[in-house]
Amino acid sequence: MTKPVTVLDLQAKREQGKPITMVTAYDYPTAKLADQSGIDLILVGDTLGMVVLGYDSTIPVTVEDMIHHGRAVVRGAKRAHVVIDMPFGSYQEGWQQALRNATRIMKETGCASVKLEGGQRSAETVHKLVEAGIPVMGHIGLTPQSVNQFGGFKVQGKTPRDAVHLIGDAVALAEAGAYAIVLELVPTALAHMVTQRVKVPTIGIGAGPFCSGQVQVWHDILGLYDDLKPKHARRFAEVGDQIRAALTTYREQVESGAFPTAAESFYMDERALELIRRMTPSAEEDMSEAERVLREVETAPQPSSAD
Ligand code: KIV
Repeated sequence: MTKPVTVLDLQAKREQGKPITMVTAYDYPTAKLADQSGIDLILVGDTLGMVVLGYDSTIPVTVEDMIHHGRAVVRGAKRAHVVIDMPFGSYQEGWQQALRNATRIMKETGCASVKLEGGQRSAETVHKLVEAGIPVMGHIGLTPQSVNQFGGFKVQGKTPRDAVHLIGDAVALAEAGAYAIVLELVPTALAHMVTQRVKVPTIGIGAGPFCSGQVQVWHDILGLYDDLKPKHARRFAEVGDQIRAALTTYREQVESGAFPTAAESFYMDERALELIRRMTPSAEEDMSEAERVLREVETAPQPSSAD
């Protein structure tokens, strides 16, 4: 049995200077692939709203959406630590609301921790959740749930005042008990300073190479989402192109009759067929297609598994 990654393992990696790896996933097969690839953390991000549900921001995502997708991800991840985003409106009213929703997310999905956005403004909430036994990952810099306040997906902390505020955010989250902090769209030098100033792992996205780890959105790094092309995301594959090519071939082969063949079909024996013919004499014409498949099967190599 594979041992699941814990928050202590992540802290140990940070202390040993070993980079932490994290990617988003939103369903069972993608979680399984991430898990099989040895990724440490799987984030069921509220980017779900944009890359899976087709909204133009993360704001419409609900707790029910996160639970529905989170459950599927947890079923696919045997080793990776699964962290689920608390969506917009599920914790902003205060720690009592946050505790209610985080408890629900943990109980109904079986995930290992939750993530929420905001630094000093979220510190009390983080503290209360941690006190209640819920591991919390923080998220500062560009926090997408506040995109309307930022006026777009812009790099944060570029002025001395903003940078000092961002360092204060990270320190407040670490003191509140967050086990790790996502730094999104932060200049490399500032992300480095934050990483040196807090004792918990920092996980960067568009925050340069000096964080304790990196997180990326599944669809961005695999070439599955073209609506936004973030500068920070390298495309490690063009899966979208491969899927389009495969589906075009499938359509063409169905249309030309090249798919399915006998090897991809199931057959019944001659006596059963004869019996059906006698029982349904008026269906004689329908049987002619079945007979064609049967003849093909008899001359094709037999499949090894169930027929
Ligand atoms: O929702 C998400 O996918 C995230 C990442 C961008 C870190 O929060």
